[in-house]
Amino acid sequence: MRSSLVVLLELLAASSALAVPLSAGGDTNIVTRKRDVTAPKPNHARANEVKQAFEQSWNGYVEYAFPHDTLHPVSNSYEDDRAAWGVTVVDALSTAIIMEKEHFVAKMLDHIAQTNYTTTAKENDAISLFETNIRYLAGLLSGYDLLNGPFSELVEDKAKVQNLLDQAKTLADSLSVAFNTPSGVPQPTVYLNPSPRHGNASSNNIAEVGTLILEWTRLSDLSGDPKYARLAEKAESYLLHPTGSPEAFPGMVGADVAIANGSFINSDGGWSGGTDSFYEYLIKMYQYDPAKYGEYKDRWVLAADSTIKYLASHPTTRKDLTYLSQYSGNKTFPVSSHLASFAGGNFILGGVLLGEDKYKQFGLDLAKSYFNNYQQAPAGIGPEVFAWVDPALPANDTNNPPPPDSQKDFYAKSGFYTTAGSYILRPETSESLYYAYRLTGDREYQNMAWAAFSAIKKVCKTGAAFAQLNDVMKPDGGGYIDQMQSFWLAETLKYLYLIFADESDVQLQFQGGKSKYVFNTEAHPFRVKG
Ligand SMILES: *[C@@H]1O[C@H](CO)[C@@H](O)[C@H](O)[C@H]1NC(C)=O
Ligand SMILES: *[C@@H]1O[C@H](CO)[C@@H](O)[C@H](O)[C@H]1NC(C)=O
Ligand SMILES: *[C@@H]1O[C@H](CO)[C@@H](O)[C@H](O)[C@H]1NC(C)=O
Ligand SMILES: *[C@@H]1O[C@H](CO)[C@@H](O)[C@H](O)[C@H]1NC(C)=O
Ligand SMILES: *[C@@H]1O[C@H](CO)[C@@H](O)[C@H](O)[C@H]1NC(C)=O
Repeated sequence: MRSSLVVLLELLAASSALAVPLSAGGDTNIVTRKRDVTAPKPNHARANEVKQAFEQSWNGYVEYAFPHDTLHPVSNSYEDDRAAWGVTVVDALSTAIIMEKEHFVAKMLDHIAQTNYTTTAKENDAISLFETNIRYLAGLLSGYDLLNGPFSELVEDKAKVQNLLDQAKTLADSLSVAFNTPSGVPQPTVYLNPSPRHGNASSNNIAEVGTLILEWTRLSDLSGDPKYARLAEKAESYLLHPTGSPEAFPGMVGADVAIANGSFINSDGGWSGGTDSFYEYLIKMYQYDPAKYGEYKDRWVLAADSTIKYLASHPTTRKDLTYLSQYSGNKTFPVSSHLASFAGGNFILGGVLLGEDKYKQFGLDLAKSYFNNYQQAPAGIGPEVFAWVDPALPANDTNNPPPPDSQKDFYAKSGFYTTAGSYILRPETSESLYYAYRLTGDREYQNMAWAAFSAIKKVCKTGAAFAQLNDVMKPDGGGYIDQMQSFWLAETLKYLYLIFADESDVQLQFQGGKSKYVFNTEAHPFRVKG
């Protein structure tokens, strides 16, 4: 759910009609039925195929990109887009541990030991606090938790495991300069070379400000030094007690706060990029430590209830589907994104933790509805941004445009039309299917995840690894984007693996008992408190 990049206005602007041939197909009956809960069952053959995709991805990265940040899987080259500390190594670590890839883990730990997190090789290299936190800091902390816990037999040299925590502290100390602002709301960008300093933006968004609390709290709890949690708590306090531009709906705040004083500067938002993981972490903090984070839970409940009441929208051509609208003040816009498809899993999590069937049911509806995009799109994979017509808004409302002529037939059967057709190996739809499967044990969700994986394998596989796609509205994906983002290994392949894997300590426990791990927004599992 990382993304600060896709904000509401970009979602609205991404409305260029795609003139594409549309293939029929797909099951249009998504009516949610109540079923008896059955225990999840592994499928070893499928788990192994996902593991093989992880091995191919890692081996392709090692051959053509290690120790750089990101593989270019079409040209077999690389880029350094995340401080050149080898983001793919650190982001893939927790998945390699869970898949018990001992040799991969050894290479990763060696690389991490050699990294200097106090500087960048390049002068004036801009570092995103948010991305560095969710991928690097969380990757280090999760590796530490897993290798001190259920996977301790994977690494003999305990100094290498301890080093993960030491490096996490060094990295957080480097990033701490971001919080050196009048309000304590962090700057989104920092620089370490030639000297540590932050950028000078006037605002930051709630995803970037509100997606630190889990990692920085875990770091304080593991290191015994409260300073990290204090920084994140101070930043979060402005989001929990909003001032300035009013909440659009109870608990649903604006997208951006002023760095000068933490006050909201707009009332735009939803569950897509720029805001998404702020809401995600409200309930995950309660999962991490319910004794301490009751207030976060209360804010999540407000937002969840408003979402069900005001943002749930059923397309004119497919009333069986539920998508989440964006908003600007109390005006809603029937537009959503692949990023927002994590919401199904987040509602299921809230439903389990709070014992509330309404959240579980809503989460299952969302998980199935966003998977509809995979069933309907010709490539078998859901698009980056899509829209629909909302029967609750006037048909002639400018917020509620009809589909372009080229997609009228597609909209009639699919319930959405595509406004940005790329697929960048994102996890969120598979993530929600994982949560749905852990809740119900219903094989239907495993089959959906398998369909998603099979389509990605068919369309994204290159010689070296897996590539991103230009246009899922074309059966062949419309050509490759020459990049394999680290979250493909951190998240997408982890959730697809876990839905078929054996029971283990990291699996979420949604049918009684208590989950031992909470997944950060990049799918790095942290041991819960207590
Ligand atoms: C890391 O980089 C800093 C800044 O260039 C330097 O002072 C320090 O010695 C380096 N640390 C290691 C372990 O190489
Ligand atoms: C931000 O402003 C401060 C104070 O003027 C300055 O020291 C710092 O270099 C600026 N940061 C950048 C990245 O320009
Ligand atoms: C907070 O800062 C913003 C931007 O700097 C400013 O527009 C706003 O008036 C300030 N609000 C308060 C309450 O000081
Ligand atoms: C939206 O807010 C405006 C201004 O406060 C108010 O007049 C209007 O009734 C609200 N509309 C809805 C649907 O709540
Ligand atoms: C929109 O349609 C309604 C009836 O459906 C009509 O009353 C209204 O005038 C229309 N508004 C515009 C701006 O065309």
